[in-house]
Amino acid sequence: MIDLLKSLADPSRLRLTAVLLRGEFTVQELTRIFSMGQSRISRHLKILAEAGVLTVKRQGTWSYYRVGDGNPFFNAIRPAFELELELLPERSQDLNALSAVLEERRQRSREFFDRHARQWDDLARTLLPVPEYRQRLLKQVPEGTTVLEIGIGTGGLLVELAARASNVIGVDHSPAMLDEARRRLLADGIGSIELRLGEMTHLPLPDNSVDCVVANMVLHHAADPVAVLREMCRVLKPGGTVVLADLARHEQEWVREQLADQWLGFEADELIAWLSSAGFGDVLCERSEGKNGQETVLLVNARNL
Ligand SMILES: C[S@@+](CC[C@H](N)C(=O)[O-])C[C@H]1O[C@@H](n2cnc3c(N)ncnc32)[C@H](O)[C@@H]1O
Repeated sequence: MIDLLKSLADPSRLRLTAVLLRGEFTVQELTRIFSMGQSRISRHLKILAEAGVLTVKRQGTWSYYRVGDGNPFFNAIRPAFELELELLPERSQDLNALSAVLEERRQRSREFFDRHARQWDDLARTLLPVPEYRQRLLKQVPEGTTVLEIGIGTGGLLVELAARASNVIGVDHSPAMLDEARRRLLADGIGSIELRLGEMTHLPLPDNSVDCVVANMVLHHAADPVAVLREMCRVLKPGGTVVLADLARHEQEWVREQLADQWLGFEADELIAWLSSAGFGDVLCERSEGKNGQETVLLVNARNL
């Protein structure tokens, strides 16, 4: 308890903890948020991690820090502590700097997809092959309902969703990807799908408006995955279903540069914990094991409580 209290008894470490309660960040991102040198930030992070306030997740050559739940005393005081952190004098300045870093992550991803829309299908197929799981994903989508697909890419899955749902809406933040999807729908003679330009943390849809949200290979592009899951919860009707397919945790560091991935896949446990913190329940997760150089895929299904 003394080590934990000592670790928190410092103005910079309180600000760091307050920011890391909002998401996972690298040392480089934290130096930008706090305009502080790398060695100072690293020293504070080390003290907080040793006291059990923070955990470190290594993703390839990057280390992501976040507030952990491994210290029972910290867990006990955390709700009251979080309220106090909101009152820190630098709070609004720190939140603005944090939003700027998240916006940079989003912008990098949007620019990448705009640049590569034309070759996207070939790029994805050849660079990062995955096992076939699409039919199992589709079976989890309730039939005859209103379905929202987020991050539609070139629209391959949209076409299959249209055969199953009564109403399909597709959202993507890249105008060039939306153009590719529009071209495909036109070629396939499908006029019933509505496409909208939008960011997955600010979906262009009202609250409680869809029965099912599908995100296939999208969450690993999210600057802030928990914010995306919360936004999915907002647009889903009570009892609605979310169906996610994404890469299981891997070590292919090059995907950050070549495929604009922000996350090297996910652990099933972390997805399940994030879903429940965003308001989902009845979470089911299955793995499609990748064989012969393919990456393993997690297929997750949950209900908006
Ligand atoms: C790998 S592709 C998805 C492929 C598609 N779901 C499919 O099944 O064929 C990722 C898509 O997510 C979109 N995307 C990435 N970040 C996004 C964001 N923050 N908001 C909305 N769309 C995003 C990209 O523009 C891209 O079209």
